Order: sequence, then structure tokens, then C-alpha cells
Amino acid sequence: MLENLSPQAPDALLALIKMHAADPREDKIDLGVGVYRTNDGATPVFRAIKQAEKRLLEVQDSKSYLGPEGDSGFVKALMPYIFGKGSPLVDRIEGMQTPGGTGAVRLAVSLAAKAGVKRIHLGIPSWPNHAQILEDVGVEIVPFDHANADGSANLDAVLGAIRGAGDADAVLLHGCCHNPTGIDYTAEEWEAIADAFAETGVLPILDIAYQGLGQGMEEDVAGVRTVLAKVPQALLAYSCDKNFGLYRDRVGAFYMIASEAEQLDAIASNANALARANWSMPPDHGGASVRLLLEDEGMTKLWLEELDEMRERMRRVRERLAAADNEAPGLNLSALADQNGLFAMLPLDKAQIAKLREDHAIYMAGSGRINVAGLHAGNTEKFIAALADVSKA
Ligand code: LMR
Repeated sequence: MLENLSPQAPDALLALIKMHAADPREDKIDLGVGVYRTNDGATPVFRAIKQAEKRLLEVQDSKSYLGPEGDSGFVKALMPYIFGKGSPLVDRIEGMQTPGGTGAVRLAVSLAAKAGVKRIHLGIPSWPNHAQILEDVGVEIVPFDHANADGSANLDAVLGAIRGAGDADAVLLHGCCHNPTGIDYTAEEWEAIADAFAETGVLPILDIAYQGLGQGMEEDVAGVRTVLAKVPQALLAYSCDKNFGLYRDRVGAFYMIASEAEQLDAIASNANALARANWSMPPDHGGASVRLLLEDEGMTKLWLEELDEMRERMRRVRERLAAADNEAPGLNLSALADQNGLFAMLPLDKAQIAKLREDHAIYMAGSGRINVAGLHAGNTEKFIAALADVSKA
């Protein structure tokens, strides 16, 4: 039986981690998978998380099962940050903890499919795992162009997708810090998107994986809140991997927004059953640490300061790259200053990406996506010189 399985290509992003690790060159640069790095190239545990973990060790008196919904205190503690303090929506929202943002996206897509969604409109390019999840669940992908060549979002394409969607369709959007392009919708564009959802009744699936790493905690969810204020129903996937630095602990949350509070029990019971059949229950440690952090004013303040530092550092890298526009012509580096989050996509071809890796020990995704957080004071100039080298005529 098992001989029927044909080999699958390894996930390209995860394969890059191994390729970079195996490269003996000391000045190698890893711009591959999306993890934040400091100016020293490290990905340390947040100081606020260290404090919360210490407290968790002291106060946790049982590791008995919690259930498929995970730590409900964690799920509730995130809500003011996502939906706003005192949001009138809270009575129409049910949430549950998931293994990372990936678990939340998986649950959103599976639940949508169970409710009758057969096709999901997805702006391309997108995080490659979006397509893998949609295919695995058995939902058809209807692609639309996410961005224009000048580095702005393609509003007409997303509005066309929403307006053209059928009864069995949903539309998946990135809440902020678009992965892989860094190109987010403006406030006015979100208004138009929200109106299109409201007029058509199409189900939005919103994926927030980088809150706080674009423009700010509130700013990064303003667009999502604009949509939620106007639509009857939505599904929302949330990741704590980057903004709490909990990557390998797999911390995420999934929120269901219903038209009526009375529908929530039925909707959540389906999500619960899907989670049970997939992973049974999410891992506890990271979610419990986030809960303890958010319940404590001092730790929350420290966490927000750490996020500010990260965001400002990435902003400085973006500005330095944008200022190098003339040094590497044709790459539209100036657009990076207006984009958000960890990623940007450079219009490099396969040969240029291979040359960067082979001649300069610079590792990036095959799409031309770079993780700007992989750049810092010690390697940005080398990166710019390498871009100049591969982009010269
Ligand atoms: C990325 O896009 O690099 C991250 O979201 C990590 C991942 O799981 O792919």
C-alpha cells in the first residue's frame, strides 16, 4: 500500500533553513523563513515571555486536558487587541486556541468547507501554505492579483473577486503585513473592500499573522475592524508566532463571527469537532504564557515596548533599502519604505536568486521574497552591493 506514495517536494521555505545552515561561509545571510531577528541576527525569546513563563512554572498546578478549545483565558485576552476594547461585536464572537496561525487557517478553511464553501478567492502571490491548505481541504482556489507592478495593492482585483463571488465562495485576505509582498490595503481601500463584502454577503476569511509588526498594534487591525463592522459573518485566523516570538510553541487563535449570538453554539461545536479530529487539543504552554503576560500590566507594557523596538528596526532597514534604489536599478527598492512587516518581494529572476546564493551566500525564497528582519547593521551594505552585482546589465 505505502509504495503507492510518490515523493513530494519538501516545503521550499523550510528547505531553505537547511540549505542556509549547511553553508559554511561566515558572512552568509538568511532572508528566508519569516522569523524576526535583532541587530545581532538573533531571534531571542521576548523578555516579557520569559517573565510569563517563569510565572507559569510557579502557578500551574495541573497539566490535565483542557479540551479542543484550549485556554479560553488566552483566547479572550487577545480579543481587545484584535477587535478593540469594548467592541460591540463581542456577543457575536466565539474563539478557540489553535496550534499556531496555521492551525487557525486550517480550521477556518475546514469550517467554511463544512458550511458549504467550495471555492476560495485568494490574492496571488500569497503565503505558499495558504494554497497547500486549501488544496488539502479540497476547496478550489480562485486566484486574483494581489498587487500592481508599482508596488501598490490591486484594489480592482480584490473588489472584482468579492463582487464576482458565487454563493459557495469565500475570500481570504491578509489582515496586515502581507506575506510575501508587504503590500497592504490603505484605509480607503479597506472601506471599499468592507462595502463590497457587505453588499454581496460573501464570507471573509481574515488572516492576521503579524499584528504590531507593520504600523502599530491598533493600526495593523484597523482594516480588519472596518470589514467586521460592516459584515454579518466572518472567520478570523490569528497567529502569536511572530508578535510574541513563540514560533515553535505553536500559538494561534481562531475566531468565528456570527450574524446572531444564538448561532454561535452550533458554529463553535462544528469547529470544536474539526479540531478534535485534526489535533484534538492545542499545545498549552505558549498560550498559557501569553494569557499570563496579558493579565499583567507590567509584562504587557514590556511586551509592547519590545514590539515597538522590532517594528522600528524593520522600518529603518526598509528605509535604508529604499535609499539604495539607485544602487540596484530595476528592483523598485524605493517601494519598500511604504510597505509593512517582515517581507518584501523583489523582482529578481531565478538566475539572479541563484547567483545571490552561490556567489554571495544570500538565501531568499525562490519567489524573490526577502525577510527584511534578516538584515541589520552588519549585513545590509553587503546585501545592497550583492543586489547591485546581480542587477547590473
Ligand atoms: C513564513 O512565511 O516564512 C512564515 O510564515 C513561516 C512559515 O510557516 O512559513
